[in-house]
Amino acid sequence: MIAEVQEWLIEWYRREARDLPWRRTHDPYHILVSEVMLQQTQVERVIPYYERFLARFPTIESLAQASPAEVIRLWGGLGYNRRAVYLWRAARAVMEQYGGSIPKDRRELQRLPGIGRYTAGAVLCFGFGEPVAFWDTNIARVLTRIFLGPNARPTSQELDQLAERVLPVDRAYEWNQALMELGARVCLARRPRCGDCPVHELCRSVGTIGKPRRRSEQFTGSRRYYRGRIIEALRGRWGGMRLDELGWAVREDYTPAHRAWLERLVTDLAREGLVEAAEERGEYVVRLPGGGETGDSCGEWDERAAGGVKVGPHSA
Ligand code: ADE
Repeated sequence: MIAEVQEWLIEWYRREARDLPWRRTHDPYHILVSEVMLQQTQVERVIPYYERFLARFPTIESLAQASPAEVIRLWGGLGYNRRAVYLWRAARAVMEQYGGSIPKDRRELQRLPGIGRYTAGAVLCFGFGEPVAFWDTNIARVLTRIFLGPNARPTSQELDQLAERVLPVDRAYEWNQALMELGARVCLARRPRCGDCPVHELCRSVGTIGKPRRRSEQFTGSRRYYRGRIIEALRGRWGGMRLDELGWAVREDYTPAHRAWLERLVTDLAREGLVEAAEERGEYVVRLPGGGETGDSCGEWDERAAGGVKVGPHSA
């Protein structure tokens, strides 16, 4: 079944893929710029910024030589300006530590400012052609639906393993792009268009998601409902959860756009002593009080959290 999903999805991607500027290059620096921009912003909005940014800073050296003020100015309306500062710092670090060549190594990439597990994976795969598995919210949703079913709520480690297990190592680039393409255009969070999906015959969730949900009670979807869901999700997770990871656990349609909403809920719960939210190694981790050390790592969500979250005692 895995081989068929790979086959059909890649075939669909070859036919249907959007012609996006970062799909015309394998320059790791250009891939890095695109992936950082795409972290919290939709493809259509990113395109003009990506082109403008690379016209001004065509090489990592040119970016490193710029002033952070200019980089932020050029970033302008994209928002989440800390991404721009991280990118600039990463460029400086690559110049200083690697003589201007982006390292082709996951660990080394992840040591650079603002680069988490997801972005490192994307740079390795799309820039260097390495057969690596990685996932963000969209890829996680697509993989979970196809291979695990509508009720599965895998942990980040389980998602790592799943992404690894289903990766076609000889066609990693197309596979990973295809998963993103499907997540962006067909396998939508709220209302997947299963009728248009190239793998609907193989999908464990086909037709089960996005039917108009009858709200049996006002309670579902209420603030109190989600407060309960948050506590439930944290139960048994001694390592705590990163904010986006938590969001995904409490609502199926979670996207980073919900972060401000989630942040408010978490901040209130923290104020009431029901959860602890603390910054650990630059990431915000939420856990039940007295939960202990952080456990697994889930990459991209780290840097997203680092980019815009203010919760808990350290945000004051
Ligand atoms: N979102 C993040 N990376 C992307 C890519 N390479 N193509 C389309 N959307 C993306």
